Amino acid sequence: MAELAGTAAQPRAYARIDVQPIAGALGAEIRGVDIAGGVDDETMDEIHRAWLERHVIFFRDQNLTPNDHIAFARRFGDIHPHLLNKGLDGFPEIVEVKKKPDQKLNNGGRWHSDQMYTPKPAKGTMLYSRELPPLGGDTMFSNLHLAYESLSDGLKKTLSGLTGVNNGDSRNHPSGLTRMERIKAGIGTIAQIDPGNAQIVSSHPIVRTHPETGRKALYIGSHTERFDGWSTEESTPLLDYLKELTHRPEFTCRFHWSLNTLTFWDNRCTQHFAINDYHGHQRCIHKIMIQGDTPF
Ligand code: SIN
Repeated sequence: MAELAGTAAQPRAYARIDVQPIAGALGAEIRGVDIAGGVDDETMDEIHRAWLERHVIFFRDQNLTPNDHIAFARRFGDIHPHLLNKGLDGFPEIVEVKKKPDQKLNNGGRWHSDQMYTPKPAKGTMLYSRELPPLGGDTMFSNLHLAYESLSDGLKKTLSGLTGVNNGDSRNHPSGLTRMERIKAGIGTIAQIDPGNAQIVSSHPIVRTHPETGRKALYIGSHTERFDGWSTEESTPLLDYLKELTHRPEFTCRFHWSLNTLTFWDNRCTQHFAINDYHGHQRCIHKIMIQGDTPF
């Protein structure tokens, strides 16, 4: 387990980076790092510690080529290829998340944790901003440790034995269409691919233990349809309560992007939500995910 200490109010000192928390619950801007210029191992260790402590970190004013982005992501593990989104031509590791001025739906406009529907969900996601609207297009994050820790002992006990069924292709999308229907209708901000036989429905513990810190989190998101062994009707009231709880304002932070910012979050203990408030303008983000483990 990683050795962590400190709180947002009293963080353990960093020698090589400047860590500026942006909210009480989670999130920090990291200053003093030039990613493209090369990051030494000691600085990487501190970045990793800041990521585990703050769950989502932001590096502004980074001049990154797609190769720089891929190389930095690889410092945290192998790349997790998206099963359903098409990669960028020449850079299959990168998914281009682009909403054009004439599009209304955005990508990621629901509280979710990436790739929960795969057997080994991505442990981290790294976004890099390439084009932004003049106003809006912020991303929100929530801390699933705090959500879990806010529960009563009774509910913690009930949830401790439950697994959730997470579906990557349900109708639980603002369009009301499945992914395959969206592909056929040409709707969406990302080119989709047919997953073939790849597994896009997976069950994972509702109470997930973070493999690096040992801290527990409420591991649910918009892909979670029901509890294993329960019907949808039985699951929905409790799941709705828990989903609402995960994004109580005091468990969240909101990040206002600037151009050339790299954002890196931990999917094992956070959800995120892309705010869709910039119709008529273009927003383009490059996304890379890092491979994770089987949740326990
Ligand atoms: C996502 O959900 O992966 C995209 C988030 C964003 O575009 O801010």
